Amino acid sequence: MMGNEKKNAIKERLPVRRLNRILAMLLLEVKSLTDEGRDLPIRWSLMHMYSSSQLAKLLAIHRGIDPELAGIAAALHDIGVVMTKKHRGHAEAASPYVYDFLGRYNRELGTKLTKVTEEEMEAIVKAVVQHSEKELNSNDPFVELLRDVDSIDAYLHGVEIEGSRLERCKKVMKELGIEMK
Ligand SMILES: [Fe+2]
Repeated sequence: MMGNEKKNAIKERLPVRRLNRILAMLLLEVKSLTDEGRDLPIRWSLMHMYSSSQLAKLLAIHRGIDPELAGIAAALHDIGVVMTKKHRGHAEAASPYVYDFLGRYNRELGTKLTKVTEEEMEAIVKAVVQHSEKELNSNDPFVELLRDVDSIDAYLHGVEIEGSRLERCKKVMKELGIEMK
C-alpha cells in the first residue's frame, strides 16, 4: 500500500533553480563583508533578503505572478544597502549593482541553468529601485509585491513598523486570511 502510494504520489517542484543559484552567489559574496562603517549589520541584510525571497514566492503564487522573478527581486532588493553601506537612498542606488550581479549570474551559469533575460532584468531592477516608496501605489505587480513583502518581512522579524509599512502589512495579512493581532 505504502509502495503504491509512493509510486502514485503527485510530485510538484517549483521552478526556482535560477533563484537558488542567485541565493548561493549572494551568500558567498556577502559572508566575507564586515560591519565596519555600515548603517545596518550585514547579517541583517542577508537574513532579510533571504526571508523576503521566500515570502515573495508565496505571495507571488497567491497573486498569480511569476514566483521566481518575485523571489529574485526580493533576494536582491537590499543590495544597495549591502554595496553602499548606507540605508539612505539605497533603493535608488541599486540599479548598477543588480545589473552587475545578474550579469555575473548570466556569465557563470554553466550548462544546467538558464539566463535571466533582459526583460526579466528590467522588471527586477524596476521593483528593487522602487521598493522603498511604500506610500505610493504602482500598477506594476512586481513593484507592489516587493513593497508588501519588505513590509511584512520586517514585521515578522520583530521590527517595529508604522505608517505605510504597517498598512501594507495589514493588507497582506487580510489578503492571506490572517488576522493581525
Ligand atoms: Fe530596502
